[in-house]
Amino acid sequence: MAEPFSIPGTTAVVTGGAGGIGRALAGRLLTEGAARVVVADRDADAAAATADALGERAHPLALDVADEAAVAAAVAEVEDRHGPIDLWCSNAGGGAGRGLGDDADWDVSWRVHVLAHVYVARALFPRMAERGRGHLIVTASAAGLLTQLDTAPYTVTKHGAVALAEWLAIRHADDGIGVSCLCPQGVNTAMTAGDGPEAATRLGGAYIEPEDVADTVVAALHDGRFLILPHPEAATYERRRAQDRDRWLEGMRRAWSAIRPGAAATD
Ligand SMILES: NC(=O)c1ccc[n+]([C@@H]2O[C@H](COP(=O)([O-])OP(=O)(O)OC[C@H]3O[C@@H](n4cnc5c(N)ncnc54)[C@H](O)[C@@H]3O)[C@@H](O)[C@H]2O)c1
Repeated sequence: MAEPFSIPGTTAVVTGGAGGIGRALAGRLLTEGAARVVVADRDADAAAATADALGERAHPLALDVADEAAVAAAVAEVEDRHGPIDLWCSNAGGGAGRGLGDDADWDVSWRVHVLAHVYVARALFPRMAERGRGHLIVTASAAGLLTQLDTAPYTVTKHGAVALAEWLAIRHADDGIGVSCLCPQGVNTAMTAGDGPEAATRLGGAYIEPEDVADTVVAALHDGRFLILPHPEAATYERRRAQDRDRWLEGMRRAWSAIRPGAAATD
């Protein structure tokens, strides 16, 4: 177990904070007593509207997490204005690319789902290490533990996010920096708004609300847990995958046969 992270009085940044999981997380951190939460998002207008709705302890910040210079500048700007950042929720993300995707899908997925976390670690971890405290939450996905049947770029880069979070958790514990990795299955947000009944994500179980995700994050921070699973069944799926990879692959092939485009017409 890592050190528990206590929210009251802290300064937090939530990327992708304008909507969905990020917005719920920002709101919940404030409810739990955070002194201030910076709502950082590529969509500056949405970040401003969300910060406005969350109240005077919420501050908007226009930030594209795929831009390393912008991430470094954001860290410096937030610390200059508000003091030390205690918690960075590296949550921005999205679904790019169906099937194998094209190079643009891989590029954006790699930058936002993997490099964005590297960029913040480069900019913020030396500051946190100097203070001997700080915490990073990486929003990956259950797709990063298992697979997302309909998209390779999402699956592979979310596996990368989990691997990076583990690496950071190992290498920076001695600096006093805690790392957690959030791996939800389906959540009702703008990202999943277009999912039909056949969506691959639904194979894992029912979609939950962003506020449910925020509940699990707060509990995991309190307990000092690395892996945050808002859908507890993901732990069972991951265990089955590790215990017998061939059997798991066979089950996934059967699942894909049932939902792949045109499957219903040929059944
Ligand atoms: N919704 C789900 O079912 C689900 C499941 C597992 C993991 N996730 C992950 O949760 C995170 C949040 O997703 P969500 O479901 O809340 O989606 P969402 O679309 O509601 O919110 C994502 C936010 O990220 C912002 N964003 C995207 N790219 C950005 C960038 N380069 N820089 C800054 N901001 C950027 C968007 O503007 C948006 O406000 C993502 O990392 C996603 O992969 C979502």
